[in-house]
Amino acid sequence: MRILAFETSCDETGIALVEGTKTPGGFLFETHKAALLSQAHLHAPYGGVYPTLAKREHEKNLPILFKDFEHETYNAIAVTQGPGLEPALWQGIEFAKKVATERGLPLFGINHMEAHLISSLVQEGRLEHTTLPILALLISGGHTEFVLMKEWFQYEVVGKTLDDAVGECFDKVARMLGLPYPGGPEISKLATQARETGLKDHPWQLPRPMLNSGTCDFSFSGLKTAALYALRDAGGIQTLSADKIAAFAAELEDAIAEVLVSKTRKALWDTEIKTFVIGGGVAANKYIREKLEALIKDEFPNVELRLPQLSITGDNAIMIAQAALARALSGKDNAADETLAAVGNLSIAS
Ligand code: KG4
Ligand code: ZN
Repeated sequence: MRILAFETSCDETGIALVEGTKTPGGFLFETHKAALLSQAHLHAPYGGVYPTLAKREHEKNLPILFKDFEHETYNAIAVTQGPGLEPALWQGIEFAKKVATERGLPLFGINHMEAHLISSLVQEGRLEHTTLPILALLISGGHTEFVLMKEWFQYEVVGKTLDDAVGECFDKVARMLGLPYPGGPEISKLATQARETGLKDHPWQLPRPMLNSGTCDFSFSGLKTAALYALRDAGGIQTLSADKIAAFAAELEDAIAEVLVSKTRKALWDTEIKTFVIGGGVAANKYIREKLEALIKDEFPNVELRLPQLSITGDNAIMIAQAALARALSGKDNAADETLAAVGNLSIAS
């Protein structure tokens, strides 16, 4: 089965043509063609994604990218329904509906977070031999949540952020440091540099929010505020040396990683799962990956860890196609019709 998928939930316009087949252990996915156009540089001056601009860019870019897919053949269309920025989501949905109607093909509305989760389980194009239950830590610019999957495609949110998402915290603190958007990779670069050059002895001390809350929930807005005050109390970034700023980035990454590891430990104790996976843009963070890898290796050796390929962690349409194919090939597709509507706050558990 070949699916043409569209992703426009945030600031990436993605189209992908992916073929899925059943194998004895699960599924094989072959990406025939994939196009991705990032608008991040256009949003950079705003320090975050500007919805009206995102909508306009998707509207402009979809037909341009689609030209390369026009003469391809496929059996179904998939599109991100939510969560995301509604004006942006609508652009993908309208475009997908048009293609589906013109070609008389079924249309699937896909949950963006489910797509992050499913695609993170895929290894070298294969989604095979995955033992349930699965616990996923989804960390992106808009979300931070633990999702428990006891049955395929049935999700329970067992912990989430009470305020900001972890990616948002990276992005906002990066902005305070004068770094460009998206800030996660920039903070990470500085933090690595600081550790490599032995700048571990620094004056910074940021909080580890909700570490002892006894729940699997997170809070990152306090960390963001603490970062703001710490920089102000130090005299502002203009007065700080490059080394001190790099050390600050390392302290922030440390604080975030420590919270993620500690909450993951609790979630793993609570749920007794067989497979642990991370997904979403922040899952590209090398330091966080290493820390979680060490946690599983040292404390949960019987849990299988699936770390997503770096090419799939950020928003893209391949993940939308893979989620749609996994569903369709399992007979669990959620076929939509011309009434398919964008849902900005679509929950994975609904
Ligand atoms: O999943 P994603 O591409 O978009 C959303 O669905 O939100 O996630 C984007 C987020 C941004 O906040 C970005 O700063 C963060 O992922 N990010 C990172 C890294 N790469 C991307 N955060 C920390 N370290 C990274 N290496
Ligand atoms: Zn995403």
